[in-house]
Amino acid sequence: MAENRLAGRTAVVTGAGSGMGRSIGELFAREGCAVVLADYNEKTVQETAEIIKKNGHKAMAIRTDVSDLKQVEKMIDAAVDNFGGLDILVNNAGVFDESKLVTESDEASWDKVLDVNLKGPFWACKHAIPHMLKKGRGAIVNVSSIAGLIGGAGGAAYTASKHGLIGLTKQMAVSYGPQGIKVNVICPGAIVTGMLPREQAEDLDNPYRAKFLSVPAARVGEASEIAFAALFLAGDESDFIHGQSLVVDGGWVIQA
Ligand SMILES: NC(=O)c1ccc[n+]([C@@H]2O[C@H](COP(=O)([O-])OP(=O)(O)OC[C@H]3O[C@@H](n4cnc5c(N)ncnc54)[C@H](O)[C@@H]3O)[C@@H](O)[C@H]2O)c1
Repeated sequence: MAENRLAGRTAVVTGAGSGMGRSIGELFAREGCAVVLADYNEKTVQETAEIIKKNGHKAMAIRTDVSDLKQVEKMIDAAVDNFGGLDILVNNAGVFDESKLVTESDEASWDKVLDVNLKGPFWACKHAIPHMLKKGRGAIVNVSSIAGLIGGAGGAAYTASKHGLIGLTKQMAVSYGPQGIKVNVICPGAIVTGMLPREQAEDLDNPYRAKFLSVPAARVGEASEIAFAALFLAGDESDFIHGQSLVVDGGWVIQA
């Protein structure tokens, strides 16, 4: 049941053409938020916007490659120009590195992962924060990973990028908290999305399947479970929470 917990607010959600980003966009819109949905896949992000608008909520799609700084600036401007301001930024877009080790990686694969997963969020924050400072209020929710906390949940570039995003979150939380902006980060475990399709997660031949099921929750997670965490961190109930990593992983990282 929607309770209009984000009524009158505007959010930018990146990676909103699929998985967690789509689910976050849909949930925020149901809670009364106008959503600017950004993704480099124009077709899928338009689909997300259509689904939300059909349900009578405010949404617009904007094709954005978050590793392109000019496009990131336009994405933030779109929120201000179309909905009159910006209250919430969710840096969710991300790419995996196919678990490549350092010795298997090259400069291009490193740059790609770091540009999308870390430079994009950095630049989006750089352009979003001045709008939030004007209002004296704002919420930034970054989407890292359990690979941002431990060494065994991704390849070298992905792990470095996701650890970096947690550090960036803490630094910004310290810098802008006193001016009304709270910055937090979600660390998902194995979640069924475009990055981890259900057939792959449940494939008996998948070497990671046993690992996914060995968590205390004994299952993989759903995108909607990340959306609820994002709603909590974007809404007023979390106003005393700053710079924290909210781990939504079925219990993966608490195990030895
Ligand atoms: N699925 C998991 O198990 C899992 C676990 C931990 C963290 N994550 C993180 O969750 C976030 C969301 O991923 P997901 O699982 O929903 O995957 P997904 O593949 O379903 O969605 C990612 C979206 O990001 C978009 N995207 C990719 N590169 C982009 C770019 N350069 N600019 C703009 N958009 C871009 C894709 O088009 C896609 O729509 C990512 O940051 C990912 O690293 C996922």
